[in-house]
Amino acid sequence: MGILPDRVVPAVVVILLLFCFRVSLVDGDISGDEKQALLDFVGNLPHTRVLNWSEDSTVCGNWAGVACDEGASAVVAVRLPGVGFHGPIPPNTLGRLSGLRILSLRLNAITGVFPPDLLRLRNLSGLYLQKNNFSGPLPMDFSGWSNLTVLNLSGNGFNGSIPASISKLKLLVGLNLASNRLSGEIPNLELPQLQFLNLSNNSLSGEVPRSLRRFPSSAFLGNNVSFPTILPGGSPVVAPPGESHQRPERCQKLSETAVLGIVAACCIVAVVAFTFLIFMLRARRKQDYEFTGPSGKVKMSPERTSSRGEDANRMVFFEGCNHSFDLEDLLRASAEVLGKGTFGISYKAILEDAATVVVKRLKEVGVGRRDFEQQMQIVGGIKHENVVELKAYFYSKDEKLMVYDYHPCGSLASLLHGNRGEAKGPLDWESRKRIVLGAARGISRIHSENGKRLVHGNIKSSNVLLNDRGYGCVADVGLASVMHSLSPSISRTAGYRAPEVSDTRKAGQPSDVYSFGVVLLEMLTGKFPVHSAGCGEMVHLVRWVHSVVREEWTAEVFDMELMRYPNIEEELVEMLQIAMSCVVRTPDQRPRIVDIVTMIENVRRRDSDGHESCRSKQEGGGGVLSA
Ligand SMILES: *[C@@H]1O[C@H](CO)[C@@H](O)[C@H](O)[C@H]1NC(C)=O
Ligand SMILES: *[C@@H]1O[C@H](CO)[C@@H](O)[C@H](O)[C@H]1NC(C)=O
Ligand SMILES: *[C@@H]1O[C@H](CO)[C@@H](O)[C@H](O)[C@H]1NC(C)=O
Ligand SMILES: *[C@@H]1O[C@H](CO)[C@@H](O)[C@H](O)[C@H]1NC(C)=O
Ligand SMILES: *[C@@H]1O[C@H](CO)[C@@H](O)[C@H](O)[C@H]1NC(C)=O
Ligand SMILES: *[C@@H]1O[C@H](CO)[C@@H](O)[C@H](O)[C@H]1NC(C)=O
Ligand SMILES: *[C@@H]1O[C@H](CO)[C@@H](O)[C@H](O)[C@H]1NC(C)=O
Ligand SMILES: *[C@@H]1O[C@H](CO)[C@@H](O)[C@H](O)[C@H]1NC(C)=O
Ligand SMILES: *[C@@H]1O[C@H](CO)[C@@H](O)[C@H](O)[C@H]1NC(C)=O
Repeated sequence: MGILPDRVVPAVVVILLLFCFRVSLVDGDISGDEKQALLDFVGNLPHTRVLNWSEDSTVCGNWAGVACDEGASAVVAVRLPGVGFHGPIPPNTLGRLSGLRILSLRLNAITGVFPPDLLRLRNLSGLYLQKNNFSGPLPMDFSGWSNLTVLNLSGNGFNGSIPASISKLKLLVGLNLASNRLSGEIPNLELPQLQFLNLSNNSLSGEVPRSLRRFPSSAFLGNNVSFPTILPGGSPVVAPPGESHQRPERCQKLSETAVLGIVAACCIVAVVAFTFLIFMLRARRKQDYEFTGPSGKVKMSPERTSSRGEDANRMVFFEGCNHSFDLEDLLRASAEVLGKGTFGISYKAILEDAATVVVKRLKEVGVGRRDFEQQMQIVGGIKHENVVELKAYFYSKDEKLMVYDYHPCGSLASLLHGNRGEAKGPLDWESRKRIVLGAARGISRIHSENGKRLVHGNIKSSNVLLNDRGYGCVADVGLASVMHSLSPSISRTAGYRAPEVSDTRKAGQPSDVYSFGVVLLEMLTGKFPVHSAGCGEMVHLVRWVHSVVREEWTAEVFDMELMRYPNIEEELVEMLQIAMSCVVRTPDQRPRIVDIVTMIENVRRRDSDGHESCRSKQEGGGGVLSA
């Protein structure tokens, strides 16, 4: 009676069944609703990076940033960091991915309140929303997330108080609410599994509750909280009551070594404090110092000054140094360790007249007094706003000290890899350009000295400090040639070294250009010059960039943090080309630093009308620094 003859019906059914079976094999994919939820999410949230989420392809294994469970039946992870999302999370989208375990949307510019949908995700174990632009209060009820282990909401604009119901997250291992605008007292959070906590840089007040006192005081920095238990030795980083935010002066700090871990930092402090103590005791025993200075700042009697014997211990000041201090003052000054560099430990010393200087104790000087002094006369003569000024030095058989200007805002290295300088946002593109431009101008000035033969010898991001206008300023000038040669070991420093350099004391100007190229790459990629690729394998940044660029996925090399800033792609690529020209293998083929300065100056954002729109305020107003 039907349209089809009896015998045909079973065949059709079989074919249909086969078809369905085949389709389900090929498609082996999450439910249509989950797919639609993802499409709704990405379709309603504007973003700058292109996502290859094609409606026609299967989600699992094909959609960037989406991971499914073993049976490809549910989405378990969505990781979309640095995609350039802006605007609020569309409601009723991610909340439909009921099997979701990991959600990472860090490093975007998402706005709006905490998305309530996410509280429906019962299986969520890691939520990473740091470095976005969320605002408003935190959710009051956390009871639904019984499986949450990491909650990272740092670097947003959440306000209100910390809900006590966070205590319900019994499996929580990491909680980071730093750099928001949270206020009120910190609730007593009974979280037995918690190993990482950071509540710094908020407006919290009151006492740190007993349950959280096991965490380092740096977890509470930048709040108005008190820490009743005095740590053994009196930790200097406890935020005392009445100090709601860290002084802007404290940009560069021991805590920068947090890259290496707080533990390492503590060890260094202990060792260094001990050496400094020994050094002070030993130095104080000597009473025969002699201080002279070309600028006429003679600290001791003229008879002493004239006896310039080989062993005379002299503090030599340079022209224009208006500090009236002597070695005793330096030793009496309250000193704080700034860091351990390639050539020695640096201290920040606050003199009695409240002037702040950096004192660097050189480890192993490899030349005699005459060569050392000659080099220092050259370096001390450089006065340029992009070169850290050498104010004075001290040379004796046992101690070699260098006294420099203090730059409170940290180095490019600390800004890129460590904590951000205080009271600053992330290192944006304009700031990065200013820093490398300043550094290039400083190196250009250095290369013009000593009959155009002076070499810096140790250019790296930790030697690029920020001057008071946010431009790069080069430190450690000319030390490499008076120190012992550095070992070619695999170290971070080695990542900056030009391939032709076998003896670091004899490097030439083209090798400075190479090192500067590595600094540029580091600035563009946000990666260390030598980084580990797991399994102990070390990857050299230059080689890595070459390999990525060769495969024509240039956009992948750039620091994800830069993806937050729209319309800078062209400039990024231009800067990358400059960097690549600096790191070519053959020294003669590298550009000279004066030309690099011009190239960087020419990297300018053009707005849609095509004319220059971004000669920055600082530069226009400040009467530009030139070599
Ligand atoms: C989308 O990109 C990811 C990696 O980012 C890749 O694994 C996947 O194959 C791509 N999918 C398609 C359909 O091109
Ligand atoms: C949550 O995870 C468990 C085990 O991993 C799984 O059995 C369950 O189906 C998941 N819940 C949802 C709603 O997907
Ligand atoms: C929590 O996670 C575990 C494994 O990670 C899973 O077996 C369990 O079902 C999850 N609990 C809930 C409530 O989803
Ligand atoms: C975040 O939002 C504020 C206004 O709410 C805006 O001024 C700021 O520029 C935004 N930041 C980013 C990185 O989008
Ligand atoms: C949080 O910020 C919003 C504006 O973003 C404001 O309306 C609200 O009053 C603030 N809440 C608290 C508790 O400060
Ligand atoms: C949270 O995010 C910050 C900023 O990206 C990061 O430094 C920190 O390690 C993260 N914490 C956890 C517990 O994931
Ligand atoms: C402190 O938080 C504000 C936003 O609330 C952020 O702009 C600033 O960078 C943060 N400072 C530090 C040192 O993290
Ligand atoms: C918390 O974050 C701040 C930066 O906002 C950092 O200075 C501090 O070292 C961190 N503390 C811990 C314990 O990680
Ligand atoms: C810090 O808190 C104390 C009370 O604990 C209060 O007296 C003081 O005014 C607060 N300071 C600031 C700057 O909020």
